[in-house]
Amino acid sequence: MKIMVVGAGGREHAIIKALRKSPLAEEIFVLSGNAGMSKDATLVPVAPKDIPAICEFARENAIDYAVVAPDDPLVLGAVDALEKVGVPCFGPRANAAIIEGSKAFSKELMKKYGIPTARYETFDNPQAATEYIDTLSEGKIVVKADGLALGKGVIIADDRESAKAAVHSMMCDKTFGDSGNKVVIEEFLTGPEVSVLSFTDGETVVPMVSSMDHKRALDGDRGLNTGGMGTVAPNPYYTEQVAEECMRTIFLPTIRAMKAEGRPFKGCLYFGLMLTPDGPKVIEYNCRFGDPETQVVLPLLESDLLQIMIACTEGRLKDVEVKFSEGAACCVVMASEGYPASYKTGYGVTVAPDIDAEVYFAGVKFADGKLVTSGGRVLGVVATADTLKSAVDKAYKATDKVSFANAYFRRDIGARALAAKQE
Ligand code: AMP
Ligand code: GLY
Repeated sequence: MKIMVVGAGGREHAIIKALRKSPLAEEIFVLSGNAGMSKDATLVPVAPKDIPAICEFARENAIDYAVVAPDDPLVLGAVDALEKVGVPCFGPRANAAIIEGSKAFSKELMKKYGIPTARYETFDNPQAATEYIDTLSEGKIVVKADGLALGKGVIIADDRESAKAAVHSMMCDKTFGDSGNKVVIEEFLTGPEVSVLSFTDGETVVPMVSSMDHKRALDGDRGLNTGGMGTVAPNPYYTEQVAEECMRTIFLPTIRAMKAEGRPFKGCLYFGLMLTPDGPKVIEYNCRFGDPETQVVLPLLESDLLQIMIACTEGRLKDVEVKFSEGAACCVVMASEGYPASYKTGYGVTVAPDIDAEVYFAGVKFADGKLVTSGGRVLGVVATADTLKSAVDKAYKATDKVSFANAYFRRDIGARALAAKQE
């Protein structure tokens, strides 16, 4: 089969490497991909959001199957458009991708179907939002922009005044553009966070191995929020009992709710969960694989990813095997010093050939035939092992084999998970 992957980052690199293991995959194209993937796929200079160009490429090259990985093209209807030109896809149509594209939609859905989540109100008027904030009790308040905001549209305000300032900046100053036309104001929840990616064909839902993201820039979960500085899988807080409860109260009800709404979800549905003292609750849904969760989840998948994906598209997920190894994985993201604020790029990147880990590239490009940094998150170093401790140690050891001038990475990826295991 001729496969096309839409996307450009570390997540897409991990998807491509997993797809390459399938005997069905003959040739893999990536739109646009990055220079670090050039050994694993054919790079095509088409932007992931350019849907007409994506469709044209698929038709002209007789693509048999497409995997649309990022949120933007999914929410914009890339899957719908590709299906129209006869290309089957992994990923939800736009009417289902809205589960990530609009927080107001996903909150309404959870309320209507009794899926546990933080209490909230939605506003399209700053005055009403401000008046509502005045009725809340002391303590932290969560303010979220309705639409996509590169993972940055969530503000945890320490008090009512800062919550009002957040509303003002989203709704009046338009910090996130039209994504802030509506805001969701919700109750602050506490507890460990767990990411669960799942395969679904709209009827059956099969959770993948759980994982833990590290969103803050600095050790000890301090500093600015980033796209993710590292991950581990499995997540030790996600016990079998929690998994069973999530399936019963969250996963199945969500899949059934989307079907009942006439928006069957096919593809990877990502559940961002918080294990609160009152049980697991949904913090967010994503309509796609997580980044950098995918980088630790897919290396543990023992079954054929392409066959699972096609089964999701064709509505026969219940008939295929989805097996994960018993081991663990750790991804350490190596970033440009200064990320997520300002940072310099253009430095040469080298990876020693004897590295004992996978490297999934994100922010790199070719300059004069050499690989150089071109983004905040440059690459992820991913190790798998029998235990989480060994996977973490192995990943950190492997970072010594990667070099670029202004490399920065957290030193404590996995530390919280390892401490939790000992509790
Ligand atoms: P989101 O983009 O919705 O995943 O939010 C980003 C991060 O903000 C989450 O990973 C949580 O750490 C935090 N967060 C979001 N909503 C809440 C909430 N209701 N209570 C506490 N923390 C939250
Ligand atoms: N790692 C969080 C996300 O992909 O949204």
